[in-house]
Amino acid sequence: MMLIIAGHRGAKGSTPENTLAGLDRAAELGLAWVEFDCFLTKDHQPVVFHDEHLERCSNGRGKVADYSLAQLQQLDAGSWFDPRFAGEHIPSLRQYLLHAKRLGLKLNLELKYHQQPRQQLVEAVLSEIEHCDFPLSDLLISSFDHQLMLFIHHHAPEVDLAQLYEDIPENWQLQLQDMNAVACHCDYRRLTPELAKQIKLAGYRLSTYTVNEPTEITALLPWLDMLISDFPERFI
Ligand code: G3P
Ligand code: MG
Repeated sequence: MMLIIAGHRGAKGSTPENTLAGLDRAAELGLAWVEFDCFLTKDHQPVVFHDEHLERCSNGRGKVADYSLAQLQQLDAGSWFDPRFAGEHIPSLRQYLLHAKRLGLKLNLELKYHQQPRQQLVEAVLSEIEHCDFPLSDLLISSFDHQLMLFIHHHAPEVDLAQLYEDIPENWQLQLQDMNAVACHCDYRRLTPELAKQIKLAGYRLSTYTVNEPTEITALLPWLDMLISDFPERFI
């Protein structure tokens, strides 16, 4: 089995997370897959950002959801990481999808649940995917929020889904069945080789995050399909 190395939030170790520069870096490294995060702006546009608040990864202040997409796109989302990335913007989902498509990258879109209406988030995201004509074969949607996964499963059963877990609940198999998951994405620190084996034997693809040292996952390696890393270059 070929282990897929996916870049976390683009390639978070070497470029500002969740930016187009991260996609360029992933392509430069020859990666096939990139993971990124997404939720809604004040005017209900899907935007590519991880935190609920702007401070850590931009020169803005306050909650992302209190600003329109146009306002967010005035911000600098690169300088905090390195002055070389000054002027890097917070991408809309549309810009991110189109850029990835141009680069031929496959995407793991992680839907962040920041207490926004789930239906609105799912509808907005699906509509952008359709607008961009992004190939579904190159897309995997994941979330820690199981309700969001169920919503997508009902609205767009053709989209590949992965449940994200921190602690893996006892009813994981039932949850994966209910959303017709293709994959399960787990925190490698909370996944035992025995559980990894069970997930694989149940027929799911298995991915771990966020693995930055090759030695950290030696015992899990036989069961892994993909690992998500800030430093994918360490695994190539
Ligand atoms: O999708 C894997 C990983 O990104 C989940 O955690 O907080 O980095 O989005 P987080
Ligand atoms: Mg993520």
